[in-house]
Amino acid sequence: MKLGFLGVGWIGRDRMRAVVAAGHADAALVADTSADAAAAAAREVGAQVVSPEELLASGVDGVVIATPSALHAAQSITALEAGSAVFCQKPLGRDAAETAAVVDAARSADLLLGVDLSYRHLAATDALRAELPGVGRVYAADLVFHNAYGPDKAWFRDPALSGGGCVIDLGTHLVDLALHLLAGTGAPVEVEHVTSRLFAGGRPLGDRADVVEDFATARIDLVGGAVLTLGCSWDLHAGQEAVIGATFYGADGAVALANVGGSFYDFRACRHTGTSSTSLAEPPDDWGGRAAVEWSRRLAGGERFDPAADEFVATARVLDRVYGR
Ligand SMILES: NC(=O)c1ccc[n+]([C@@H]2O[C@H](COP(=O)([O-])OP(=O)(O)OC[C@H]3O[C@@H](n4cnc5c(N)ncnc54)[C@H](O)[C@@H]3O)[C@@H](O)[C@H]2O)c1
Repeated sequence: MKLGFLGVGWIGRDRMRAVVAAGHADAALVADTSADAAAAAAREVGAQVVSPEELLASGVDGVVIATPSALHAAQSITALEAGSAVFCQKPLGRDAAETAAVVDAARSADLLLGVDLSYRHLAATDALRAELPGVGRVYAADLVFHNAYGPDKAWFRDPALSGGGCVIDLGTHLVDLALHLLAGTGAPVEVEHVTSRLFAGGRPLGDRADVVEDFATARIDLVGGAVLTLGCSWDLHAGQEAVIGATFYGADGAVALANVGGSFYDFRACRHTGTSSTSLAEPPDDWGGRAAVEWSRRLAGGERFDPAADEFVATARVLDRVYGR
């Protein structure tokens, strides 16, 4: 099976290495608007450098996309229409309409569509998934992702290239994780009402179109009464590099995953009962490339379109409501 890698910057190169090392597929083509980045990545895996347009039209078995976020939807659709399965970085689209258009293209072409919702694949998330049914009906969840630095590339802060700030960058992971885990328990996950506040540089974002939000707080009420609270930010005075967590409260207990010591990479999962807490999972855990490797394994196994891709649209709809659109 032959893959093409489109966008081989920081995360594209990382995921390319993980997929190639897993051995389900070969890296055949590499494309990037940076000739240096493309040449270095292609040399590493013995692939051919082509233009982005050539890669998207090639009809190679699968295309792995890790370009600036605003390009994802159009590039994914072009690849799918040329007959390639797609694994795309999050966010799949800048809004629900774009996201739905990609899912529809994958459905029409009957091709496997994956998105790098990498936090679904933590060992700590697996532990939560297993323990969640034991806490009773979940009535509340607290979701946080504060990044004390924010992204170091200018395009992330340009709305035309990123599609948004910390909500689309970090909130995507949190909303997906909550909806995905709750759906797995059979609980209703239909969203009834969303309220939010977005800020940029400490001031309400308002209708400024030239900047993206760097702090957001939202409350997401689900049909049936459960409530999710969401907080995410870039450049926050967080006292550590990152604060990342998802806690689910039920009548009989709670389960939580949280980063350890401010790390972006180390996660712990716990079960809380009253004042006591029991560890369910501890670092280390090499989770970064897992979503991409799973997609390549499924593709090599002959899997076609998976209707679970509709979950990508459900998350994008919630984000639209957080953005007030
Ligand atoms: N799943 C995760 O947890 C996770 C983590 C980090 C980043 N990401 C996502 O990955 C994407 C890339 O982020 P990054 O930090 O690697 O950015 P980056 O800037 O390091 O890489 C983007 C690459 O795309 C290339 N590029 C730009 N326009 C292109 C085009 N038209 N065709 C081909 N290549 C093009 C750039 O030259 C660059 O090499 C973003 O959408 C980001 O949200 C996801």
